[in-house]
Amino acid sequence: MSVHVYSSQEELSAAAAREFAARAEEAIEERGRFAVVLAGGSTPETMYAILARDYMDRIDWNRVYVFFGDERSVPPHHEDSNHKMASEVLLDHVPVANVHRMRGELPPEEAAEAYEEELRTFFRTEDVPRFDLILLGIGADGHTASLFPETSAIEVDDRWVVANPVLRLDTTRITLTVPVINAARAVVFLVAGEDKAEALKEILEGDADPRAYPAALIHPPGGPQWFLDQSAASLLRELQ
Ligand code: 6PG
Repeated sequence: MSVHVYSSQEELSAAAAREFAARAEEAIEERGRFAVVLAGGSTPETMYAILARDYMDRIDWNRVYVFFGDERSVPPHHEDSNHKMASEVLLDHVPVANVHRMRGELPPEEAAEAYEEELRTFFRTEDVPRFDLILLGIGADGHTASLFPETSAIEVDDRWVVANPVLRLDTTRITLTVPVINAARAVVFLVAGEDKAEALKEILEGDADPRAYPAALIHPPGGPQWFLDQSAASLLRELQ
């Protein structure tokens, strides 16, 4: 696990864009394609905008295959859609090979099963799929993707994608499961803002109960990389 602290969200996002490009180059060189999972929420928007603005000619976009870590149960043009955010800021501006959207407009169980089938077809495997890079955020409550505290999805180890009822939000989300995230060649958390400091301290320095802080369940080989701004890192004992 490596923790990088940046002076601002802009610096964090620029560093994350560099990491994205490096992972893309490595994957395309070694395997002819880059299978990447985008995070939702608001934190990644700045990074996605930097990729669209500065990396048009620095990434072989037509070998980039885009997936999502989770989606809300909304249609693709709904303001809450992760796909909508990523499309407006990045995907509509770069010639990616394919975008594998979680179909939030379907009943969540159906959407989850369909997405899992899509992963089986893409990766042509019955083993857990190995993404080249998975981008994640965390909520102030320690959730990541749509693996929320005390929800059923955090225990699932025999599915790759599930519908996860989140009572606190009065909704059901579609999310990748822990085994899929932990199989990734690289996992990068993007965390900015004071409101994440407490959860981050628990996850990185406490002995956080994963049921309460699901981001603590994420342990890919070599550990995740944490890209933090100073506000989010403000409660960490030693600023890395
Ligand atoms: C989502 C994300 C979620 C997000 C965190 C942080 O669908 O919202 O997958 O896990 O990464 O909630 O969100 P912010 O970046 O908006 O703080």
